[in-house]
Amino acid sequence: KTAYLGNAFCDVESARISPFDRGFLFAHAAYEVTAVYAGHLVDFGGHMARLDRTLKGIGVPNPLSGEGWTKIHRDLIAINSLTEGLIYLQVSAGAYGLRDFAGPETFQPTVFVYADARRLIGDAARDGIRAIFLDDSRWKRRDMKTTQLLSQALAYRTARESGADTAFLVEDGHVTEAASANAWIVNGEGQLVTRDLSPSILPGITRAGVLDLLEGSGLHLVERAFTPDEALSAKEAFTTSAGAMIAPVVAIDGQAIGTGRPGPVTRQIQRLYYQAMG
Ligand code: PDD
Repeated sequence: KTAYLGNAFCDVESARISPFDRGFLFAHAAYEVTAVYAGHLVDFGGHMARLDRTLKGIGVPNPLSGEGWTKIHRDLIAINSLTEGLIYLQVSAGAYGLRDFAGPETFQPTVFVYADARRLIGDAARDGIRAIFLDDSRWKRRDMKTTQLLSQALAYRTARESGADTAFLVEDGHVTEAASANAWIVNGEGQLVTRDLSPSILPGITRAGVLDLLEGSGLHLVERAFTPDEALSAKEAFTTSAGAMIAPVVAIDGQAIGTGRPGPVTRQIQRLYYQAMG
């Protein structure tokens, strides 16, 4: 398997970076995960725009142009014969002498990109996933896609210990989002609800894609925060992310959502989204 590190392609097994890299020491790094479907990048422009915003937010210059990023992604797809899966990219602030909080005035970023072949539309999309509610213990700038992911990594471990697949994170009595996806519900009034954008959540590229697709669909969309109780009494729930696309949520805290099976609105959105991708 071939990855891209620094400014060259390399074997994933031999990829090495300095332990003094600020990504390693401080999670001073931006990342993006782009879906590849039928050999094509999904919503790449959206991912590039968000990368730019995150890098600005963490004071790291974007080391590559849009064309530069596109070429690395396309080359990795070709070299690894990737038809379905993900491309992970990370830009860290780089390595400089010993550990120093502030670091140098300007950064020379470390770039790392690799391809992950996997089915994006598989068991989870068909049968659904189970969630648990967990306190959202992340920092306040969740709108930036940084590698500061310990809170989410621990949330996934807790979910697994309880026999679930993911967590719905809760703050001030409302769901923010899922551990690595945006959260949606369909309520009894037939409203499709997902939280409005703010620093409290990541502005998902898949979320934006779904909102675009649903314009003029006749579905009643509402962007607002919802409570755990609203989620439990919802007719349907699902998550959106590049990693799992549209994943029906069939139970939360062991309680069935709706019929306990993926619902019709979720299925409709899956169909529309897969169509638009293919
Ligand atoms: N996660 N919210 C959080 C906290 C996320 O980590 C993600 C994506 C999303 C969905 O964003 P998008 O639709 O742009 O993928 C929402 C990626 C897939 C990950 O960390 O692997």
